[in-house]
Amino acid sequence: MKNRSLVSINDFSKEEILQIVDLAAKFEENPNQELLKNKVIATLFFEPSTRTRLSFDTAINRLGGRIIGFSDASSSSTTKGETLKDTIRMVSNYADLIVMRHPLEGSARYADEESRVPIINAGDGANQHPTQTLLDLYSIKKTQGTLENLNIFMVGDLKYGRTVHSLLQAMSHFNPVFNFISPDELRMPDEYKFWLDSKGITFYEHTEFTDILSRADILYMTRVQQERFADPLEYEKVKNIYILKNSMLKNTKDNLRILHPLPRVNEINTDVDANPKAYYFQQAENGVYARMAIIASILGLV
Ligand code: NCD
Repeated sequence: MKNRSLVSINDFSKEEILQIVDLAAKFEENPNQELLKNKVIATLFFEPSTRTRLSFDTAINRLGGRIIGFSDASSSSTTKGETLKDTIRMVSNYADLIVMRHPLEGSARYADEESRVPIINAGDGANQHPTQTLLDLYSIKKTQGTLENLNIFMVGDLKYGRTVHSLLQAMSHFNPVFNFISPDELRMPDEYKFWLDSKGITFYEHTEFTDILSRADILYMTRVQQERFADPLEYEKVKNIYILKNSMLKNTKDNLRILHPLPRVNEINTDVDANPKAYYFQQAENGVYARMAIIASILGLV
């Protein structure tokens, strides 16, 4: 992985993915190490973020590195009309590694072509979110003891949700069964379903999930991605379509864990938070260790 970018989760092999997951566990045991001494890492967030940016910042700080960048593109020269190409060319002369979030699909791949240093994609539009996937895999492995043969339910905005796109591709290494639950308007795009077919992975599509929830090992809830809708009225129609309530978890498996990349809006009722099957806040903590593992691997420090 040394000196390689992480733009799509498919940039890393199954073995490399497993190495990161194992390394995340080691960082969780021992999170304060000076591995990034004398390293400067740029975090360029052209789109809002709380967890992703702060967990990258925490990971870099705990490893003794230094950070440059911005959390709001309006404070950068983008507002003066600077192109992404020029910004990346320049920042890649300042930093050893660039972490970037951008609203356009494909922007991270483009940045990678222009950059002299590796790029970590922290989300490019509705396309990919590979670092979220690595922390999701770490969370799944920790809670299930394995990544193999799991029944994964993905619920909500499967069209615009980049987290589910990356996660389904990574999980496909581990013989899962997928259940996709969404309104018709927000179904998993065909390109991902064709991709699953080509790998021989079984998936089912539904518009409801209450009756089948007893089969799930992982219930991955997602937010309807309001910012990606061209028509606000279309968003209004689907915004509260699924709301998970504690009462719905009665007949579920003991090992079931509820994941959500966060932020949640209304899709998980707060009465679920105290249920031991709710794992989304621990999942967000795991993001620090997974991102330490990603950075250290790409900079060749482990
Ligand atoms: C997700 C994202 O940005 O794609 N959030 C995150 O990174 N934890 C999910 C979302 O915004 O709904």
